[in-house]
Amino acid sequence: MTVARVSTVAFEGIEAREVDVQVQISGGGNKMTLVGLPDKAVAESQERVRSALHAIGLALPPRRVVVNLAPADLPKEGSHYDLPIAMGLLAAMDVLPRDEIARTMALGELALDGQVTAVAGVLPAALAAATAEKTLVCPERCGPEAAWAGGIEIVAAPSLIALINHYRGVSVLRPPEPKLADEDTTPLPDLKDVKGQETAKRALEITAAGGHNLLMIGPPGSGKSMLAARLPGLLPPLDAREALELSMIQSLAGELKDGAIGRRRPFRAPHHSASMAALTGGGLRVRPGEVSLAHLGVLFLDELPEFQRQVLDSLRQPLETGSTLVARANAHIRYPSRVQLVAAMNPCRCGHLGDPGLACNRAPRCGADYQSRISGPLYDRIDLHVEVPQVSAADLGLPTPREGSAEVAARVAAARALQTARYAGAGVRTNAEAEGDVLDEGTKLEANARSLLVEAADKMRLSARGYTRALRVARSIADLAGSAVTTRSHVAEALSYRRLNLS
Ligand SMILES: Nc1ncnc2c1ncn2[C@@H]1O[C@H](COP(=O)(O)OP(=O)(O)O)[C@@H](O)[C@H]1O
Ligand SMILES: [Mg+2]
Repeated sequence: MTVARVSTVAFEGIEAREVDVQVQISGGGNKMTLVGLPDKAVAESQERVRSALHAIGLALPPRRVVVNLAPADLPKEGSHYDLPIAMGLLAAMDVLPRDEIARTMALGELALDGQVTAVAGVLPAALAAATAEKTLVCPERCGPEAAWAGGIEIVAAPSLIALINHYRGVSVLRPPEPKLADEDTTPLPDLKDVKGQETAKRALEITAAGGHNLLMIGPPGSGKSMLAARLPGLLPPLDAREALELSMIQSLAGELKDGAIGRRRPFRAPHHSASMAALTGGGLRVRPGEVSLAHLGVLFLDELPEFQRQVLDSLRQPLETGSTLVARANAHIRYPSRVQLVAAMNPCRCGHLGDPGLACNRAPRCGADYQSRISGPLYDRIDLHVEVPQVSAADLGLPTPREGSAEVAARVAAARALQTARYAGAGVRTNAEAEGDVLDEGTKLEANARSLLVEAADKMRLSARGYTRALRVARSIADLAGSAVTTRSHVAEALSYRRLNLS
């Protein structure tokens, strides 16, 4: 008896690796064996496949069935193996055409009634199918997502029976169309809504211009959350390549809404009770975390000291390298995680440190305790620190500011265009990503600006990382000013956004 074959995929980070599903029906007995290092979900898939076949009136032959997933050393997780296993079986039973199925890559979960239900990761799988020059078979609902791969034949099936009818030519399934997200239907919140807070707004503009991280410290109700929510509206839209990059992550997390790819930058605001797995990925089932879902956009951590310290420290690596490594039994999986971190915190637990009328009787000790919950290395990775004081009634009574997000976004776009031109060829998008010689040569730091930075670094006891981050911020300030060189006043402003000490 020959072996029937079909391909599927195993995910390693955002890469889809081809997996060969081999099905052999032979001899006597009435047993199905699944080999090739399957995890629990794959083993359960046996039961779903059996039921789904039964539901469409097909029984497994009373013979020995062996299903092998190769290569064996590739870890296989997820429920998307149901469909390829069922297709391999149907090919081995000559219900589906063997030759065609052998040139097919499939993924999808089966319901007990034979429906093909949606799974995560269809977009990276479709790109793998394109590379392998294979037809992709996926759940109907994932069709628009798969269609983004372009140039491949896609069969998006609602059910096993529809798939069989398709291959028999009884009722051919129509190829799916790629779907564009309904662009900008809900307007983003505008900076015009925020009254006063000029320093914080300026810091937000610099943050947007250079792709930096920002920490806002201030009492409750001063507008920190409002300001953070307005950062995405200041950032340029994703370009086509970036949109695809982000959607691969969303696809793996099962968060690509109806398969639609959008150009808006993500804004993720996980609650402070979030676990490490939720924030940086991993856990029982490997899945991208919030820091990856915020890739090329904004990760907003409100009430920063309320997060578990260990959870926060797991952010250090992605903030430094732009990617997250998740440890698995026998592999490390890498997810892109190039985010702008925006963090907000009260100066102390009750939030009124520094206000003699409202501060509790433990001030200022309570402030130091509260702020020390965040480790030095994490503070160090935040380029701009800014105080957001209570807005006065007078401020709130001011007329709506003339300048809103549109004006600021235009300046940010101009500053980013300068960076794109400067870093072309260096694989760097923004000042925040520039390093080493690329940063040094790009900065064009004037001599007296350098001496100021060196002197301040010494006085403020900046770490090497702190020094570099201040330099990058200074360069972003220069870019906003349209200045080719970075001057002493650019450096001075950059240094004003670094807190001397934390209490
Ligand atoms: N600067 C401001 N301008 C206008 N409204 C403000 C401002 N600051 C706060 N508010 C009002 O107070 C509410 C709470 O602000 P929020 O951003 O949640 O404060 P925080 O995050 O600092 O505690 C806002 O929804 C808004 O109505
Ligand atoms: Mg808030």
